Amino acid sequence: MEGTGRKRRVGIIGAGKIGGSLLVRLAASGDYELSVSDTHPERLAEYERSYGVGAASSNAELAEGCEIIIVAVKPWDVAGVLHEIYPAVEGTEKAVTSVAAGVSIASIEDGLPPGTAVLRVMPNVCASVGLGSAVVTSNEPGRRLLPEVMAIFRHVGDVIELPERLFDAATALHGSGPAYVALFADALIQAGVREGIPREVARRLVNATLQGTAVLLKEQSPHQVRDEVMTPGGTTAAAFVAMEKAGFVGAVYDGVNAAAERARGLGGK
Ligand SMILES: NC(=O)c1ccc[n+]([C@@H]2O[C@H](COP(=O)([O-])OP(=O)(O)OC[C@H]3O[C@@H](n4cnc5c(N)ncnc54)[C@H](OP(=O)(O)O)[C@@H]3O)[C@@H](O)[C@H]2O)c1
Repeated sequence: MEGTGRKRRVGIIGAGKIGGSLLVRLAASGDYELSVSDTHPERLAEYERSYGVGAASSNAELAEGCEIIIVAVKPWDVAGVLHEIYPAVEGTEKAVTSVAAGVSIASIEDGLPPGTAVLRVMPNVCASVGLGSAVVTSNEPGRRLLPEVMAIFRHVGDVIELPERLFDAATALHGSGPAYVALFADALIQAGVREGIPREVARRLVNATLQGTAVLLKEQSPHQVRDEVMTPGGTTAAAFVAMEKAGFVGAVYDGVNAAAERARGLGGK
């Protein structure tokens, strides 16, 4: 904790894909005093044994002992969790951070004592390999904690502050993004197999292509990468004509738009 030399007490409710990834990386950093709660106590023993994370017997107990509470349950479970932690948060300086898709700051505030510091983060599953990306925002009382919460999520990847009005779009873009890339990878592997390449070879070629392209895209724009590969009248140009005719780009726009609409429908506020 700032100035006191004491470690910040951070608690994670929900030891699933996002909560679990965060927990492991935060534990490895040694920078925090961590605790976790989950409806499946058997999931917590491993965190306690291997990472020295304290397993709370309830969400209320976790909230009691933490300064920053990270709610990492499914969107429809958030309201119930807030109800459970309400008494522990009341009359304190505790901050509540939610990673739930589509659940607005306003609806989180509704479930907590007035004036509670509320932060909202949209991470993605690449957090599990430390290469995640996350956007962060807060209500007014939560602003003082933005740097600290951003530092927490930096342990699992890149973190950017973004206004809440763009959160549903960001959820559709990078929150669901790894699944779109995996869909594309699978289609590419299948296409290679259809052309006669053994499946394992196709998989290795596609994986390496995705990794290499990701590195190139850090230094160059997508158009530059495309132009380097595309010889006029060549094979890539032929592929682009066929893919564009089949509506590839339009399908990506439609997919992201459908995900954003779905995110808008999740929180109800
Ligand atoms: N996965 C992603 O790619 C991703 C990306 C961005 C944001 N998010 C957001 O992150 C949140 C968590 O997603 P996830 O994929 O990590 O979910 P998950 O793997 O299902 O993890 C949630 C965990 O919380 C537990 N849980 C449910 N209700 C609880 C309660 N009342 N108290 C304590 N624990 C409870 C769940 O148990 P049960 O299994 O019994 O339900 C599960 O172990 C979601 O709101 C999602 O919108 C996820």
